[in-house]
Amino acid sequence: MEVIICRDAAEMGQIAARHIVSVLRASARPVLGVATGSTPLSTYAALAELQAAGRADLSGISAFALDEYVGLPADDERSYAATIRHTVTEQLGLDPDHVHVPDGTATDLVAGCQAYEDAIAAAGGVDVQILGIGANGHIGFNEPTSSLSSRTRIKTLAPRTRADNQRFFAADETVPTHCLTQGLGTIMDARHLVLLASGTAKAEALAAAVEGPVSAMCPASVLQFHRHALVLADEDAASALKLSDYYRHVRDNQPQGMRIDTL
Ligand code: GLP
Repeated sequence: MEVIICRDAAEMGQIAARHIVSVLRASARPVLGVATGSTPLSTYAALAELQAAGRADLSGISAFALDEYVGLPADDERSYAATIRHTVTEQLGLDPDHVHVPDGTATDLVAGCQAYEDAIAAAGGVDVQILGIGANGHIGFNEPTSSLSSRTRIKTLAPRTRADNQRFFAADETVPTHCLTQGLGTIMDARHLVLLASGTAKAEALAAAVEGPVSAMCPASVLQFHRHALVLADEDAASALKLSDYYRHVRDNQPQGMRIDTL
């Protein structure tokens, strides 16, 4: 696992975007795994800037989202389908037919989850997956005690996650109780992972994920088993890391030609 401590959200987005573009460029059928939440927004903005500058062309890629609320249709602005449409599909000029989000309104949710897994496989798998992290260590919507080898399925949201996400709903609206999420096993099948963390609210979860034991109690800790996991954190999110001096030392002493942040 490579950990880079970034100055701010803008630098985090730029490093993530350059890494993502270099991975996608090397793929014959580029597939990007996308995430909702506030943290990846600077990455999407940086990807859009690279495109505008003619340094990347994402028009032909496919994308798969991590998760969706059960019961919210794609035309509901609070759905993750709508969030991905605005922050990814429209901003990056992707073909909407090639951007996939689990369908939280399917009559048969179990069959829908399997169909989602099949669609990812049919696209050739995810080349690089963007991940945020929940304050309880979740990735996607894999709450603590999720199986480390889980696949796309229905999950019950943790009360803390629902409280954290209340900000996307009006005060008198309740956050859905259930979701569909790619499993930890599904996420781990992506060939590259980029986990983004910002703010002090994520500091404990990030430290547990990067430096704690691998445990279903901190689902993001499963990344320790991934061969190509890049972790980008701002100073606040990195504040509970014990080895931050080491991560800075590694960043300053990358072998020539291997610097992720200068790709
Ligand atoms: C939600 C999403 C996650 C996301 C997390 C953190 O729970 N399901 O994919 O990583 O929120 O979001 P934020 O980046 O806004 O803190």
